[in-house]
Amino acid sequence: MNAIAEADYEERLARFDLFDPDLQEADLWPFFDWIRENRPIARTSALEGVWIVSRYEDVLHVYQHPEIFSNRAVVWPFEEASQLPLNLDPPQHNAFRHLLAPMFSPASARRMDQLLREVARELIGTVREKGGCEAVTEFARPLPAKAFLSSFAVDPDLLPEMQRCAESSFVLPEDEEGWRELHAATESINGYFRDIVTARRREGATGEDVPSQLVRATVEGRSLTDDEIVNMLNLLMAASLDTTTSTLANILTWLAENPDRRDELVADPSLLPDAIEEFLRYEPMLFNGRMVVQETELRGVTMRPGDRVMMLFSAAMRDPRVFDRPDEVLFDRETNRHLTFGAGPHRCLGSHLARYTLRVALEEWHRAFPSYQVRPGTRPRRRLTMVMAVKGVDLVVDPAP
Ligand code: HEM
Repeated sequence: MNAIAEADYEERLARFDLFDPDLQEADLWPFFDWIRENRPIARTSALEGVWIVSRYEDVLHVYQHPEIFSNRAVVWPFEEASQLPLNLDPPQHNAFRHLLAPMFSPASARRMDQLLREVARELIGTVREKGGCEAVTEFARPLPAKAFLSSFAVDPDLLPEMQRCAESSFVLPEDEEGWRELHAATESINGYFRDIVTARRREGATGEDVPSQLVRATVEGRSLTDDEIVNMLNLLMAASLDTTTSTLANILTWLAENPDRRDELVADPSLLPDAIEEFLRYEPMLFNGRMVVQETELRGVTMRPGDRVMMLFSAAMRDPRVFDRPDEVLFDRETNRHLTFGAGPHRCLGSHLARYTLRVALEEWHRAFPSYQVRPGTRPRRRLTMVMAVKGVDLVVDPAP
């Protein structure tokens, strides 16, 4: 990884350009540390002006004050949007959140166990035959996606289009052609979700798949409209696929590059739940956005209605005021109150499913491959989006005897 020259920090921060080609593969951690310690509330010219908030305490403050920092604009480029329940503020948010919560409880995540293991073993079987794989396309992406397809009872042929939509929720297309493709993919997925809702209504929606549950659900004493259900299905798809894939890809890459630490997890899989929390802290989503709706002051800086705020997780999750030895991966970290799943009313609905998926993935992978490395002569390929992630990594595996 190349480093960013310290002399350039000020200028880089001022324009905070995620598409800058030489940021894509750069080691950004020293830059984020510098921002957090020297410019805790910074102004960037990106998107015509955004506040960057980077200390843990301030990120938590923003999350916990939805009456000041609204969810109307959350994902880059922080335009107002109307995804349910993500872009609603309390109290309107409460009813939609309550109807979705039971579908993503810890118990419902545990019910995915068998399916996740079956899918993981099938994918691992192919990797074993080949002696290796490109771990994103052959493992980290299909595993959560197939679980999603099953719980939503979606046609597997739609997977590529869904992946395309999900991924582009976190990275803007770079040219007009990209935008056209994205719109076409979104239209087509929404058309498909609409057909599912129509079919479920016709058949009586008796099943346990998520679309059937949404057809049966009520909010404030009324049924949901087709538009509301399609909107929620679309958000669930966007929120669940690329996030889990990126986290799994980052973890596998780190473990492939740190064999001593991987051996610890292989020898004692009971370390996995805490290790996963630590990986979530260590390489979180890059940021999350908000829109100011009430004039406020943060560390002496006045923010006005309409201003956009970027919570720079990546800096906050390594804040030494909260985390000892923040740049180290400690599987036995005593307290780990990371904010990678957010906080406050919009805290991630899918956190149980995400954790469960990661755990099953790593348990099954390590049972099959106690040792694996990045293929000699290759290196992981990274891309900077809202999720800071490995987008491709070639692994060679040594199967268990
Ligand atoms: C490692 C994987 C994941 C990460 C890092 C992650 C991260 C987040 C974060 C930071 C938020 C808060 C957004 C905000 O406050 O504006 C959020 C919300 C949300 N997440 Fe996740 N997520 C992950 C996986 C999932 C999965 C698997 C699902 C599938 C159900 C999901 C569904 C949602 C939904 C529906 C919301 C909006 C909740 C609301 O507005 O009340 N996420 N996620």
